[in-house]
Amino acid sequence: MGSQELYDTAAAIVADDKGILAADESTGTIKKRFDAIGVESTEENRRAYRDLLFTTPGFEDYIGGVIMYDETIRQSADDSTPFAELLASKGVVPGIKVDTGAQDMAGFPGEKVTEGLDGLRARLEEYYGLGARFAKWRAVITIGDGIPTDACLDANAHALARYAALCQEAGLVPIVEPEVLMDADNSLEVCWEVTTRTLHATFDELYEQGIDLHGTLLKPNMVISGKKCPDQAPPERIAQATVDCFRGVVPAAVPGIVFLSGGQSEVEATENLNAINQVGGPWRLSFSYGRALQASALTTWGGDSANVEAAQEAFLHRARMNALAVAGDWSAGVEQAVTA
Ligand code: 13P
Repeated sequence: MGSQELYDTAAAIVADDKGILAADESTGTIKKRFDAIGVESTEENRRAYRDLLFTTPGFEDYIGGVIMYDETIRQSADDSTPFAELLASKGVVPGIKVDTGAQDMAGFPGEKVTEGLDGLRARLEEYYGLGARFAKWRAVITIGDGIPTDACLDANAHALARYAALCQEAGLVPIVEPEVLMDADNSLEVCWEVTTRTLHATFDELYEQGIDLHGTLLKPNMVISGKKCPDQAPPERIAQATVDCFRGVVPAAVPGIVFLSGGQSEVEATENLNAINQVGGPWRLSFSYGRALQASALTTWGGDSANVEAAQEAFLHRARMNALAVAGDWSAGVEQAVTA
């Protein structure tokens, strides 16, 4: 028997076709996003942008959890309410990214291993005190000539399981994110094979280290053609391959699979999620999107407070489109109808 608190948290995050807003860009990553819209990445601009997202009226109807970065969980809204408290007051579960980033793996050129286990127990305790009830750790797997190696998959899976065990001990639901990157020239079949190996290694370690899968969420890539592959699989093929692949390696005990968008456009990420839900599986199949929920909002905002309302509308629209995709009820028609 496990912890009811963990089960309740996991269930709340993906209840009623809801998904997750990944707003946990590190200071380096958000700078890249701000550079693209010509906004200086100051602490106040980062706070103002997260304030815009988290105070969007009604977004809680479609978003069950928000992942924050260390700086963000310590910041407050314009009215001085700490962000974690603001989110919880709307019924949105506050989450926190706890890895410290993917580093080059010694002895394995082209491969990465994610760091952040040292001192993690104490950090999790602090984050729980700040209101976080779930966490995220991202492993990065690269497809290339002779990679990923089993050594890279095993090292990342081991770290993911150690992180997950510490989270569950601290009362936080671990989001286990082994991301197979989508930007190479590989076919969908190669993505399937690498995703299978990655998930197999990950669940082996989760099992070995006694992780309670009922209190865990999986955040994977879709099984998809690499961005530079000349033969791009259509949504129906992506959906069937993703569900078939996961059926072979992801236990039904996992209450929710929340996909990352991984560089897909906003509409692509929605369309593919919708197709995946039309196939369906034994888990809730939802989203934990960063770029695919924020791209339009970010450009609409452009750092100008006069654009906050329009940017919030853009964010709300994407959140609603993705919740429709979780229900398998999205269509190009509904996307157009609301955009028009
Ligand atoms: P994207 O949806 O932009 O891939 O980001 C999700 C995320 O949190 C990656 O860790």
